[in-house]
Amino acid sequence: KSSLPHARERTLIAVKPDGVQRRLIGQIIQRFEQRGFKLVGMKMLQVSVSEMNAFTMSVCNSSVTVDVSVVKVSEDLLSQHYSELRAKPFYPSLLYYMTSGPVVVMVWEGHNVVQTSRTMVGTTNPTEAQPGTVRGDFSTHVSRNVVHASDSLEGAKREIQLWFQGQELLNWDCCDQKSIS
Ligand code: PPS
Repeated sequence: KSSLPHARERTLIAVKPDGVQRRLIGQIIQRFEQRGFKLVGMKMLQVSVSEMNAFTMSVCNSSVTVDVSVVKVSEDLLSQHYSELRAKPFYPSLLYYMTSGPVVVMVWEGHNVVQTSRTMVGTTNPTEAQPGTVRGDFSTHVSRNVVHASDSLEGAKREIQLWFQGQELLNWDCCDQKSIS
């Protein structure tokens, strides 16, 4: 057993649709494994939102109305996930982006994983993200920033409960933590 304080801390990391489409899942997982974190849950899913029928987005400085007819497959998961952002002007396009293809959601465990993950992922706006971070290496615009990472311990708990059932998260020991007989 590990005796590190907070060794059981967990966070939610999601590879967003652009990350999946650009075949970045493996590289993102590799960074978390290399760093020493433990994957305790992972699934791929296509999210859709029912209340969204049409929205207006800005394309090349002109306003374009986009019709969206999608089947609701998960109970307003995204609107709960992004509930604090409902009043933001970018909220409709954020929902459109997040429903534009499958996402891979993961729960990673380890010492100080919430804060360390935020550092590894880089600033929300990739323009300011440091090289060596996921966003600093793979993205250029805040509206396609490849990955999500919980921003606090409380946020992580809330998001993990939202995306995962308890039985989908597995406890397992690393081989170097087991006694070899
Ligand atoms: S804010 O405005 O400070 O509350 O937003 P912030 O904490 O920086 O970001 C919250 C999430 O909103 C996403 N975001 C955007 N998406 C699409 N378009 C634009 N312009 C945009 N600005 C912010 C940002 O990526 C955050 O999503 P997550 O999934 O948490 O990374």
